[in-house]
Amino acid sequence: MPTDRAVSERAVADRAVTTAEWWRDAVIYQIYPRSFADSDGDGVGDLPGITARLDHLADLGVDALWLTPFYPSPQVDMGYDVADYCNVDPLFGTLSDVDALLARAHGLGLRVIVDIVPNHCSSAHPKFAAALVAGPGSPEREWFVFREGRGADGSQPPNDWPGTDAGTAWTRVAAPDGAPEQWYLHLFDAAQPDWNWENPAVADMFDEVLRFWLDRGVDGFRVDVSHGMVKAPGLPDMGPRSWNQVIPTVDPATRPPMWDQDGVHEIHRRWRKVVDEYDGRVLVAEAWLDARRGMLYVRPDEMHQSFNFAYLVTPWRAIDLRTTIDVSLAADGSVGAPTTWVLSNHDVVRHASRLGYSADSAPAGGIGLGDPQPDRAFGLRRARAATTLMLALPGGAYLYQGEELGLPEVTDLPDESRTDYIWFASGGTSRGRDGCRVPLPWVHDAPSFGFGPGPMSWLPQPAWFVHHAVDVQRGLAGSTLELYRLALRLRRELGLGHGDVVWLETPPDVLGVRRGPVTVLTNTGSEAIQVPVLAGSRRLLDSTGEHTGAPLESPTATLPPDTTWWLVPDRG
Ligand code: NOJ
Ligand code: MG
Repeated sequence: MPTDRAVSERAVADRAVTTAEWWRDAVIYQIYPRSFADSDGDGVGDLPGITARLDHLADLGVDALWLTPFYPSPQVDMGYDVADYCNVDPLFGTLSDVDALLARAHGLGLRVIVDIVPNHCSSAHPKFAAALVAGPGSPEREWFVFREGRGADGSQPPNDWPGTDAGTAWTRVAAPDGAPEQWYLHLFDAAQPDWNWENPAVADMFDEVLRFWLDRGVDGFRVDVSHGMVKAPGLPDMGPRSWNQVIPTVDPATRPPMWDQDGVHEIHRRWRKVVDEYDGRVLVAEAWLDARRGMLYVRPDEMHQSFNFAYLVTPWRAIDLRTTIDVSLAADGSVGAPTTWVLSNHDVVRHASRLGYSADSAPAGGIGLGDPQPDRAFGLRRARAATTLMLALPGGAYLYQGEELGLPEVTDLPDESRTDYIWFASGGTSRGRDGCRVPLPWVHDAPSFGFGPGPMSWLPQPAWFVHHAVDVQRGLAGSTLELYRLALRLRRELGLGHGDVVWLETPPDVLGVRRGPVTVLTNTGSEAIQVPVLAGSRRLLDSTGEHTGAPLESPTATLPPDTTWWLVPDRG
């Protein structure tokens, strides 16, 4: 096994790409700071913990990392409720710790993207506190979306927009004497009041926030809820309009009034101008949209990338995957943007568990004890095939911490340990997102599996995490970690992040795609299938981890179920 130093030096050499357009084919690793690595033993991951473990990312072979929010926050929505945009929550460290993290990452050739949350803040933000005190009609209230209630006594919410708890997106505040008065809008929890982007002061304030972090040296921003900052004029009722997870809002008549309003693009253009004052910085849109609307977010004067959530929710079926890939490439390509790919993040059930159910039955909203459980081995096999396909596609790709360890969702988390506000706000009907946020296992025989120096871990780690620990998998042929390392190295060496997708004639259930020198074959079916192969082809990569590169027999080979191969002609 190479020494850390050798690993770091090789990683820097591998990453010679320093062009301003580095993001076009970048693989970006998402770090959820609470759960990555804990330096001080309080059971909550922190910035020094991340810095100490950055070698893992260089060794893995990614290009960049994205940190979810570490700003001062009451942590109602785990940091997506920001009380101060230009500082660090003591839970995670200090601004000096950010500097140290940036220096170490950049020294390893890794770029660093941070999260920015412009749709809402925390009810603990000083501006919201000031708005409450200043009362109706004050300029302070103009920073947020305050309205009078409906009904004779104003006791009904100003409109019918639903909240995350299926109740209302509005909360009524009280005057100093306790009398009920106006309502404020919050698309998420009541502790996350929406900013009023019709107030120019809000935009000015965010320009300064962007510059604060750009001056500190961050390489870009992942923009939270970037399709929500502007609401339909007059805040009309939603009526019978509704939305799915990925909002199909191509038809304006059915577009929900709080999402994907055309006005958001003005903000994005303004932000693009700010980041363009610096070299090589990027904006990444978080917007759960159909590709045909999502592409508007990545026009040349807007964001650089947008998460491809349509891909994340595509069922594990060859025909559906092919359609999503084609639609994504065509949509983003029509505006000159690379598309991106993503299978997991901190808001969804990990793909090793989603795929552990038969085709269409993965439950939404989290999984817990008493729910139908995924088949772990089956899910992992499919997840490995899915990732191996994804990493062969052109464009950017996003990985979520732990997926390189084959981590499934923790579906047996005791309900008493849950912390996600969705679990509480839904009255326990939706289990929420804790299951994908359990602290990572690094060392199989250490307390908290090496997450921290002691036994503490803010969510309990299940005993079976032992099999997924980094130290168990590193250097072990066929492990998921080694599969990711190999796929990322080959992707880089073969330039798979660029170029065309050429579909091949294949049997149903099989995806066949030519990517430069590589033929990628994925069997999403439950039976082995004979696939055509050229004489002398060999497997450069096999998602099952079972095979060496020996030449395959031609003209056909047997592709097992839920498997991806990368084939190349054998040059002997
Ligand atoms: C998307 C974030 O990924 C999620 O974790 C958060 O709850 C919402 N935006 C609200 O900020
Ligand atoms: Mg800590």
